[in-house]
Amino acid sequence: MLKISETTGTAMYVKNRAMYLTGRDKKLIGFLTVLLVMLSLVCWYLFHEIYAVLLIAVCASMTIALQIEIYRRITIYLEGLQRFSERQLEAQSLNYKEIESLVQVISLLRLSAPLPPMRDWAILPDFAALIIGLVREMRPAMVLELGSGVSTLVAAYSLKAIGEGRIVSLEHDKDFARTTEENVRKHDLTDVVRVICSPLKEVVIGSRTHQWYGTDPLEGLESVGILIVDGPPGNLQEMARYPALPILWKRLRDDVVIIVDDAARSDEKKMIQIWLREYPELHIEYAETAKGAVVLRRSKSASAFGISPVEGVANKGAKQSCESGLSSRSADTSAKL
Ligand SMILES: C[S@@+](CC[C@H](N)C(=O)[O-])C[C@H]1O[C@@H](n2cnc3c(N)ncnc32)[C@H](O)[C@@H]1O
Repeated sequence: MLKISETTGTAMYVKNRAMYLTGRDKKLIGFLTVLLVMLSLVCWYLFHEIYAVLLIAVCASMTIALQIEIYRRITIYLEGLQRFSERQLEAQSLNYKEIESLVQVISLLRLSAPLPPMRDWAILPDFAALIIGLVREMRPAMVLELGSGVSTLVAAYSLKAIGEGRIVSLEHDKDFARTTEENVRKHDLTDVVRVICSPLKEVVIGSRTHQWYGTDPLEGLESVGILIVDGPPGNLQEMARYPALPILWKRLRDDVVIIVDDAARSDEKKMIQIWLREYPELHIEYAETAKGAVVLRRSKSASAFGISPVEGVANKGAKQSCESGLSSRSADTSAKL
């Protein structure tokens, strides 16, 4: 059978039991053999040439067995080949879409240094293009991001390109926060970006306890025009990103746009459904990206009533601490937000 190597992506021919005669094949061959032997006996009875007739019968059944075996192997090989080419086509189509987005990203941003890789944990070029498009459309004075990285740079470049707005990026991990800060400096974006290292804390929402960014550094932050939800890491706990809306709702503008990455994951799908139930003024748009992305827009009319559907959000003590220099800086960021 044809298999695709996960490491090299090459096709390999792997032995598989399915390549050999099945029970049904064997029964068919047995039946044909018995039939031919009986025919032979009839011939012998009539013509008295048993050896020759038996030989012909055996040869005939062997040939049939061989034919079936060859047919089966070719069928299985072709099926594998078909699956392989379908996957190749799918991968090519995804690559093409990402290249298309990357070209747009590069042509729309005036980069002053190479961007970090846009793959794996980072956003992909298609999501970067989505951020750029929405920043240009909304022209927000304040972008709040959850989970820093290349997305921070992309959003900051977009804000710089339109000549207004700033981005605050919450990052729970001090090493990632430091890396993003270094990148922000390399890209000469310090005037538009503030990375806040904010360790995860226990927060109780309704009857459930979640680990989410400490919100003390966000004191004074209001009127968020775009919220980018790409953290904390999804593998941390079930619906790791759910607290974003219950906790930040009062800081979001009436016409806020919420961009959610990884929306194809079942956890995020569930989270979005719950958000839509709890915040009926949100309208959903699906963006066709490789990891799945969703844009939630808050309609002005519904929010004019000042509805805050989720009550009872309470912060507990800090779970971990931010030891880097960023932590002390993050503590006094609220005034400068
Ligand atoms: C989905 S990532 C955020 C990616 C970010 N928005 C970007 O575009 O690069 C969510 C969090 O995972 C953590 N993270 C990022 N890269 C990681 C990696 N390679 N391994 C483990 N955790 C990572 C960081 O703390 C980050 O805030």
